[in-house]
Amino acid sequence: MANTVLVGAQWGDEGKGKIIDVLAEEADWVVRYQGGNNAGHTVEIGADRYVLHLIPSGILHDGKRCIIGNGVVVDPVALLEEIDGIEQRGIRTGGRLFVSDRAHLVFPYHKRIDEYREQKPATGAKIGTTKRGIGPTYGDKAARVGLRAGDLLEPHFADMLRQRIETNNKIIATFGGPPLDVEQTVETYRAVAARLTPYVADTIPMVHQAISRKEPILFEGAQGTLLDIDYGTYPFVTSSNATSGGACTGSGVPPHRVDRVIGVIKAYSTRVGEGPFPTELKDEMGERLRKIGNEFGATTGRPRRCGWFDLVVARYSAMVNGIDDWAVTKLDVLDDVDEIKVCVAYEFDGRRYETLPASVRVLEGCRPVYESFSGWRCSTKEARARDELPAACREYLAALARLTGAPISILSNGPRRENTLRLDRAGSMIAP
Ligand code: GDP
Ligand code: IMO
Ligand code: MG
Repeated sequence: MANTVLVGAQWGDEGKGKIIDVLAEEADWVVRYQGGNNAGHTVEIGADRYVLHLIPSGILHDGKRCIIGNGVVVDPVALLEEIDGIEQRGIRTGGRLFVSDRAHLVFPYHKRIDEYREQKPATGAKIGTTKRGIGPTYGDKAARVGLRAGDLLEPHFADMLRQRIETNNKIIATFGGPPLDVEQTVETYRAVAARLTPYVADTIPMVHQAISRKEPILFEGAQGTLLDIDYGTYPFVTSSNATSGGACTGSGVPPHRVDRVIGVIKAYSTRVGEGPFPTELKDEMGERLRKIGNEFGATTGRPRRCGWFDLVVARYSAMVNGIDDWAVTKLDVLDDVDEIKVCVAYEFDGRRYETLPASVRVLEGCRPVYESFSGWRCSTKEARARDELPAACREYLAALARLTGAPISILSNGPRRENTLRLDRAGSMIAP
């Protein structure tokens, strides 16, 4: 296996956790490079279900080593809870999980400010964040006032944190919120620092040693391309680069050491939170996709908005990520649909859009232009090879490959490991 970046090509929740779990078998290292515990990556192994927020999904494979890279924002309390949760289920993390000393830390004031900004948005428009403090933490990073995991080891950590709490208490007061107890918070984080210290490391030489030893690395993207701070539907985005370039800046791997970029894409579309979603279905069909696809957030439990597959989004994602091949997930969710629609372009104000417009105003007004495909009306769940899929299903997939210009190498027809068709291994990729 080559060094592979796996990115979400839509609005997140494409099934990245599941595909990472499948691919992790062939990797030595699994690296998260951006986002924080706003992510919720689900892995189902037999009757066991795991939802990972900060720990790379590779941790579920014995012997694989996992890195939380410098581009990730880490809520240390949430990370310790997650570590405890999986250790209780018999998964060892000691000596296998490393947190970059350059990763920025999320503190309670970040979460509070995230919440207040959502309650009283300065622009008047709510983003619908996960309220995990992600935006304020990346904001502090860019403003050069953040604290990093390495600071937990500094002798003056308590002083630095005390100063940050005092400053942020003034910001909290502007929202009319009660101040954080400075000394109590400092004490809590002293204890957290003591527990987290064994995991903190300079992960950059680790990544480079892995490269020189030819130990394959799998980069686990969080969120999705349309939630990327630069390429997404700004301002309705997260605060990091969820696209493939983020793997380099968020882990220290040089661009020319990335060999392959896999885009994970659902056979339809979902979005959670506010913001434009041209193919959204606010009708019975949308309800059906939500129900059959069990489209409820893995982190917040919020119902996900559902809609048809959007080729404008997929082509744009293929372009900005440099997607070599697709992993198409949740194919089985379409098993009972008579007519499947795919958006091939948008129309707004008499103009046709083949690529994603930057303006949210334009995007919100865009009307999708659909092409229809006939459904297959039978179960795909039992298929273990491409030829076992119904003809109409193969036609739908061939159209997705052709219209996006990238081949399909992996198909997912259920949440479990065994519900995966490795077309790349079987020499049966669906070519564009
Ligand atoms: P991620 O954030 O991209 O890792 O995705 P989530 O875990 O948030 O959401 C994907 C959901 O779909 C999870 O509940 C998975 O167990 C489930 N899932 C993944 N692949 C498939 C699939 O092919 N079919 C079905 N029915 N469910 C799937
Ligand atoms: P995974 O990795 C889906 C969305 C939120 C909100 C916006 C900003 O599981 O695919 P934030 O808390 O990041 O400031 O919220 O981004 N969002 C996600 N949506 N999947 C995710 O992660 C998401 N992480 C953030 O709903 O619209
Ligand atoms: Mg998710």
